[in-house]
Amino acid sequence: MNKKIVVYPGSFDPFTIGHKDLVLRAKKIFKHVVIAVLKNPKKHTMFTAEERMDIIKSYVDDIEGITIDSFEGLLVDYLKQKELNLIMRGMRMLSDFEYEFQMSLTNRKLYSDFEAIYLVPSIEYSFISSSIVKEIAQFKGDLDLLVNEYTKKKLYEKI
Ligand code: PNS
Repeated sequence: MNKKIVVYPGSFDPFTIGHKDLVLRAKKIFKHVVIAVLKNPKKHTMFTAEERMDIIKSYVDDIEGITIDSFEGLLVDYLKQKELNLIMRGMRMLSDFEYEFQMSLTNRKLYSDFEAIYLVPSIEYSFISSSIVKEIAQFKGDLDLLVNEYTKKKLYEKI
């Protein structure tokens, strides 16, 4: 297994500066970060997987050692196919813990080599979520400290 590569999976609907903060933190530990966007035809998302990947590109284009990819189906199948076993997720607050713990144990049950690490974002980003961003956008609130200009533009185009 390649210990220099970590996969950062998520819906990223849309990516926020909180997600970018985590990517930068992961880059201090790993040589390469693969941002893996879940492409789930059954899950309703504001942005298509292609749009979400395009938005992510606007945050990380100038950072070396980052790949933006997408996957369908089980995360563990994607990891096995890439011959990887390690993911990174953000742990913003205690409310994240239960979901992340269940997800990790499920993934480990499906793939015994599966490992996950959790990074804590900066305190100023710890309240940001994609759902909050979409809600603020819907009511034309101030998105300045939550997403980049490109995402803001894309959000307003959708609404
Ligand atoms: O950003 P999110 O929505 O919290 O990310 C969740 C994600 C995409 C990491 C998770 O839903 C996932 O891995 N989905 C793929 C389906 C899967 O593998 N499910 C079993 C493990 S819970």
